[in-house]
Amino acid sequence: MNILAIETSCDETSLSYISANETRSGTNFQVFSTITHSQIALHQEFGGVFPALAKREHQKNLPIILEKIMEGREIPDYICVTSGPGLEPALWCGIVFAKELGEKWNVPVVPVNHMEGHILSVLVPEQISSTFEFKNSDLQFPALALLISGGHTELVLVKNIGDYEIIGRTRDDAVGEAFDKVARILGIPYPGGPEVSKLAAQARKENSLKHPEFPRPMIHTKDFDFSFSGLKTAVLYYSQSISTPSPRRASAVPLIKGETPNISESDKMAIALEFENAVAEVLVHKTKKALEEFSVQTLIIGGGVSANTFIKSEMQKMIAQEFPNVTLLVPEKELTGDNALMIALAGYFKIKKDPTRVYTDIKAEGNLSL
Ligand code: KG4
Ligand code: ZN
Repeated sequence: MNILAIETSCDETSLSYISANETRSGTNFQVFSTITHSQIALHQEFGGVFPALAKREHQKNLPIILEKIMEGREIPDYICVTSGPGLEPALWCGIVFAKELGEKWNVPVVPVNHMEGHILSVLVPEQISSTFEFKNSDLQFPALALLISGGHTELVLVKNIGDYEIIGRTRDDAVGEAFDKVARILGIPYPGGPEVSKLAAQARKENSLKHPEFPRPMIHTKDFDFSFSGLKTAVLYYSQSISTPSPRRASAVPLIKGETPNISESDKMAIALEFENAVAEVLVHKTKKALEEFSVQTLIIGGGVSANTFIKSEMQKMIAQEFPNVTLLVPEKELTGDNALMIALAGYFKIKKDPTRVYTDIKAEGNLSL
């Protein structure tokens, strides 16, 4: 079957066209094309994603990308579209577009959960624009998925593809959000996660740096929940405490809300290092506890923050030391962020499970759960 997938849950407009054919041992996938247009540069001046702007950009870009992606291709058998979670005005753009196309082509439209997409993004091997076979035996269950993105931090027990149970989640900020807020405190533009991580890596190399001590929130609680807002506040208070009056300020007046503390590059590096260490320690510890409790066979890490090399390597170390029989799966770098290929994959498995189901009332669900 041929699938056209559409993803517009946040600030990426992405379309993917794939074909998926069931084999005796799994599925053969052929990825014809995935085109993702990022709006990051436009949102930077707002310090985060501005929903009305995201909506306008999606509406502008969807038909342009569609034309490119459909060049030389036949009308697909299905259209899959992200229906949530995400920013509702942005989600609606994809949904309305998918429904119109579905009517025009007389093709069924299937709603897909964005977080399931992040989980299944690990099925794609290294070469993305190619053919690959997913063997059912490639994914051993139960699996555990640690989903870390700008909007979510969840530990999900994956009993099978399509059968999920959230066993832990953040009670306040998501990991990516905390990275972005820390970046902002340090004067780094949105989305600052990757930059904070680069600063931390530099500091790790120069390991003589004296660094502050930040808390490891909820690390010893019995549940699998997280909290990152207190950690971000600790970064803020510490940064303010070492901030020197900027040249534009006459004296050491306390910083006003939102003002960037005036701190040296080496202090920024030290803060980034301790912040990233704290995040990684909490994520690794809670993941380890969940692996123990549920006798997990496979660990999946997905979402934008799964691009973070330090978190990945700490997770790898923990698996090698404590769970040598567990397979660790992390998406290709290009697929860590939002993309329509992961939506096509999640859509395929949903269709396979219930091929004749008709979805008549697809709507944007900002808080849709797995
Ligand atoms: O999954 P994603 O692309 O969008 C959402 O669905 O939220 O995740 C984006 C988030 C941003 O907060 C970004 O700063 C963070 O992922 N991120 C990183 C890294 N790369 C992206 N955070 C830390 N280290 C990175 N290398
Ligand atoms: Zn995402």
